Amino acid sequence: MNKRVRKAVFPAAGQGTRFLPATKVIPKEMLALVDKPIIQYGVEEAIASGIEHIIFVTGRGKSAMEDHFDISYELDATLEKKGKTDLLEMSRRISSMARISYVRQKEPLGLGHAVLCAQDLVGDEPFAVILPDDVIDAEVPCLKQMIDVFNQRGGSVLATQTVEGPAISAYGVLAGSQDPVNPRIYNCTGMIEKPKFEQAPSNQAIIGRYVLTPRVFELLEQTKPGAIGEIQLTDGIKSLLKEEKVFGYTFEGKRFDAGDKFGMLQATVEFALKRADIGPKFREYLTDLKF
Ligand code: UTP
Repeated sequence: MNKRVRKAVFPAAGQGTRFLPATKVIPKEMLALVDKPIIQYGVEEAIASGIEHIIFVTGRGKSAMEDHFDISYELDATLEKKGKTDLLEMSRRISSMARISYVRQKEPLGLGHAVLCAQDLVGDEPFAVILPDDVIDAEVPCLKQMIDVFNQRGGSVLATQTVEGPAISAYGVLAGSQDPVNPRIYNCTGMIEKPKFEQAPSNQAIIGRYVLTPRVFELLEQTKPGAIGEIQLTDGIKSLLKEEKVFGYTFEGKRFDAGDKFGMLQATVEFALKRADIGPKFREYLTDLKF
């Protein structure tokens, strides 16, 4: 088995119902955060973490994503004719970012099933999973931090964040204990998907970044659909836990749920404020707003 994490799977076949009507025709992953589709943030994070091959799991109506990462001859020719060299360079950079493959998930049968659709393209090697809705602002890319832990510890790594109170019920939650050597690492003994607040085994919530060993594919194949008829990724990882080490990892950085209206608004404000081109003007605008 190749031990290096070279491939990243982007499950993007979901229907994005939380963002209707915007997502009736436009894939959720193509909604703009400031001026870049949210999926591009994840792709840039993967590349900055050393990933060489991106695998998109897509579904019906997602072809805008494929076009976005492809060469646009018409656009490039127009930009060239108009002498817009900066924009031309940006357009060409997007289409040459990484090796990209696509696989279709014919029915949205759950996140675990979406990951399983990438099995043939990943093969027998460890791989990353990036949920494009989760946009992470970090000095060291979140996935890079996780790959470092994977390389040191040799077990699957799940990104986590601490969530206090009833909000924990929206997440997969880890059971286990903090690592005595590295307080960012959580030695995982179990996990439960979307528990009731009173039944949550900890405040460690799984968010949308995973580094997994390929054994999870075989276990996902054996996983039965859960209560809402979906194959959950956490059920596959729960089975993996019986055979291999699995770690939670509290990454350094800030995560935004851009698949949710409120999260998208938060991300828009914070990313815009950080931008050199529009940040100062936007800050002035916000400061002058009367609530
Ligand atoms: P979500 O829970 O955000 O679902 O999926 P969704 O359909 O995309 O959005 P809402 O909740 O209806 O607004 C988490 C991730 O898993 C992918 C989604 O594309 C998203 O990246 N996914 C989910 C699949 O690829 N296939 C599935 O069957 C389910």
